[in-house]
Amino acid sequence: MNTLLLTVDIQNPNNNINKLQEASSILHKGGLVACPTETVYGLCANALDGDAVKSTYVAKGRPSDNPLIIHISDIDMLNKLVTKIPNKAKKLMDRFWPGALTIIFNKSDIVPYQTTGGLETVAIRMPSNKIMRELIKISELPLSAPSANLSGKPSPTTAKYVIEDMNGVIDCIIDGGKCQYGVESTIIDCTRETPVLLRPGSITVDMITEVIGAIEVDKTIIGKVTEQNKPKAPGMKYRHYAPKGEVVLVQGNIKNMPQKINELAESFYNLGSTVGVICTEETKSCYDYNKYKVVCIGTRTNLSSITPNLFQSLREMDENNIEHILCEGFSTDGEGLAIMNRLVKASSYNIINV
Ligand code: TXA
Ligand code: MG
Repeated sequence: MNTLLLTVDIQNPNNNINKLQEASSILHKGGLVACPTETVYGLCANALDGDAVKSTYVAKGRPSDNPLIIHISDIDMLNKLVTKIPNKAKKLMDRFWPGALTIIFNKSDIVPYQTTGGLETVAIRMPSNKIMRELIKISELPLSAPSANLSGKPSPTTAKYVIEDMNGVIDCIIDGGKCQYGVESTIIDCTRETPVLLRPGSITVDMITEVIGAIEVDKTIIGKVTEQNKPKAPGMKYRHYAPKGEVVLVQGNIKNMPQKINELAESFYNLGSTVGVICTEETKSCYDYNKYKVVCIGTRTNLSSITPNLFQSLREMDENNIEHILCEGFSTDGEGLAIMNRLVKASSYNIINV
C-alpha cells in the first residue's frame, strides 16, 4: 500500500484545509489515517464503521479484546454515543475537555462492538490538538484512535516513528510535529459510583479529586499484573511500551541511582554489550558518554519536561541498537505516576530498588 504523507501546520490547520479534506475522504471510505493529538499520535478510523475499526487492529497487530478510545469534537457527538452522562463525568468534562482525559461511559447502540472490544462500555475523549479537532469536525465522524504504533512498541510522539511503524500499512499519515504531552491520556471509568483511574496521564489524580472527590486507583497501574490482580482496562494486561533492548528500571534516591546504574552499565559493557542510560538534568554528568548512549529526558523539578521525551528516548535506544537500557526512576507523585506506569511496563517489572 502507498501511504500518503501530509504535513499540516499545527498553528494554522485551516491553511491546510484541502489536506484535511483528503484525509477525511479516506476515513469516509473506511481507510486509516494517523494524526497527531496532544498526547501521542493516533491511528484514526470511523468509530462507527465496524470494518474500518477491525482494520485498525490488523494494522497494529493488536489483540481484538483491547478496546479503542473514540475521539469527538463536540458534545452533540457524545450524546449519540452514550446512554447517560453521570454527574461526576459531567464535572470532569467541564473542567478538562478538550484535553488529555478519557472517560468511560455506558455505550449506546450505534457504537459497534468492534470499537469497544465486545464491552458494553465505551472510552471517549475530546482532544485539544487543533489538527485532530479539525479532522473530526471536517469529517463529521467520531474517530476511534489507538496510539499509532505497532502493538507493544512505545507510542509515537513524532511522525517519524509513525512512519517507522506504519508506512506502507495504512492509507495516510499526517505530520503535525511533536506531541505536547508525550504520554497517553488519563483514563477514568465513570460508570461506577466511585470512579476508577484505569491509566494515569498528564491529568493527575490530584487534579481529578479536586473536581469530583475521592476516586479509586487501579492497583495494576504500578503493581504487577497477575491472575488475581488483573487490570480493569483490558489493554493494560499486554506487554507495552517496550523497545527491543532489555530495560532495567533503577529507582531510589538521586545519589544511589547513578551509582547503581554505573555499576550495571560497566558490567554489561565489559561483556561486550551496547548500553544506554536514560537520565535527567540532575544526574546527566554522572555518566560516561563515550561508552554509553546517554539520553537526558528533562528535569525532575518539572515533570512536564520529562513526559514529551519519554517514549522518544526508548525509540532512540532502538535506533542505536542498544541491548541494555538502564533507566532512572521517579517518585509517583503528580505526573510521576504516569511516567512510572510507562517505565514499569517498559521494563516488564525488571526493577531494582536502591
Ligand atoms: O492519549 C490517548 O489516549 C491516545 C491518543 C491517540 O488519543 N490513545 C491511546 O489509545 O492511548 P490506546 O488504544 O493505545 O489505549 C486505549 C486504552 C487501552 O488500555 C484500553 O484497554 C482502554 O483504553 N480502554 C478503551 N475502552 C475501554 C473500556 N470501555 N473500558 C476500559 N478500558 C478501555
Ligand atoms: Mg497504545
